[in-house]
Amino acid sequence: MSTQSARRQFLRYLAGSPLFALGGVNVAQIARMLDGSSAERSRALELIQQQAQEPTLIASASEALNVFDFEPVARKKLPPAHWGYLATGTDDDETIRANREGFTRWDLHPRRLVDVSHIDTSVKMAGTTWETPIVINPVGSQRAFHPEGELAVARAAKARRHLMVLSNVATTSIEDAIAARGAPVWSQLYHRTDWNETKQMVKRAEAAGAPVLVFTVDLIAGSNRETMLRAQTVDTRNCENCHVGGRPRPGVEGSAVRQDTRRKPMIAGIVPGEKAPEVGTPTWEFIKRLRDSTSMKIFIKGIVTREDAELAMENGVSGVFVSNHGGRAENSGRATITSLPEVVAGVRGRGVVIVDGGFRRGTDIFKAHALGATAIGIGRPYIWGLAAFGQEGVETVLSLLRHEFEVVMKQAGTTSISKISKSYIVPHNG
Ligand SMILES: Cc1cc2nc3c(=O)[nH]c(=O)nc-3n(C[C@H](O)[C@H](O)[C@H](O)COP(=O)(O)O)c2cc1C
Repeated sequence: MSTQSARRQFLRYLAGSPLFALGGVNVAQIARMLDGSSAERSRALELIQQQAQEPTLIASASEALNVFDFEPVARKKLPPAHWGYLATGTDDDETIRANREGFTRWDLHPRRLVDVSHIDTSVKMAGTTWETPIVINPVGSQRAFHPEGELAVARAAKARRHLMVLSNVATTSIEDAIAARGAPVWSQLYHRTDWNETKQMVKRAEAAGAPVLVFTVDLIAGSNRETMLRAQTVDTRNCENCHVGGRPRPGVEGSAVRQDTRRKPMIAGIVPGEKAPEVGTPTWEFIKRLRDSTSMKIFIKGIVTREDAELAMENGVSGVFVSNHGGRAENSGRATITSLPEVVAGVRGRGVVIVDGGFRRGTDIFKAHALGATAIGIGRPYIWGLAAFGQEGVETVLSLLRHEFEVVMKQAGTTSISKISKSYIVPHNG
């Protein structure tokens, strides 16, 4: 058999394997990489090898050495479609990989003989001082990952004293999340086409005591989540209890099926009123509308350019999240850590800059601060912890990241976050 046909046969075998569909590995992408440069070929083989290996699973949160240890446990415990929802990026999932690879473009440039017996990791955002810059980012539908969902995360945030941002499509109401957190959470918003509906959600978050509204703008044009769609096809459960019309597959959702809000208390709480005429999708004018309708501070999540950072500041927002939705919005292929410096330049000290996307190590957090971030956000890692071991898993993920970050701060000779400047990193191999 020729090498060519052997390769094709092998790839056909891979394509038929549910394991690969679930692991977020895109077979078409691997096929392309195998036809590419030698670096691409070896990366493709690495991906195949990783996928083929059975990871050693930790049996309890305390066994974890790092946040990655939770991922295979979460994957094993979750139904395939829910795992697909968590793992997915868009198109070939390139932007997920880009987010991680972005950190490797910077190396540390540590200083020695500094007294690091006491370090201060606190940051101030929207008038509150947090003892850690690690923010629990909004992630929707958390009861799909653990029966206690957002409540377990809020309790972990309380125990470890982290800022939590609650998703607009959470499976727990903002009132219950704040009660479990024992302090206000920030409220994330996806707009509705009907402004009256959007306004009701804004007012509800404000009444519940959220000090900040985080308006997410990177999904307005939709997204192509192939890894999720592929995983749904191998999930054979009957999901009618939670999804109207059964499994949430392509073609099932849409105008023929009413929107399922049974597990989305923030949306289910909307009282239908008279529809306001809407023109198009949100523009900067919409930010003004938001500002005029609430006393909460407004943050915009999904800013990746200097131009939009400038506009955000001109439009009176208090901060931005440099975010590509964890590689789940447009498949830009650009890491958020790469976008960060230009956004910081656009903000010019006029607001808070939180960056998220691929943060898994203390060194990642350190590099973000060196490039001017106020704080960093995490998504998937704490959900791996939640799915694997509930609240304890979330707490352990938070404490591992915190510990790693504190160690690298000391190793680099930086005693506070404001001291972590650009001089503590250099371009890779620079
Ligand atoms: C399963 C999942 C659900 C998400 N849901 C939301 C959401 O409801 N609102 C939002 O603004 N961002 C959402 N995000 C994006 C995260 O807030 C964050 O930007 C991203 O996860 C960071 O990347 P990371 O997962 O690599 O840490 C979601 C991300 C994931 C993985």
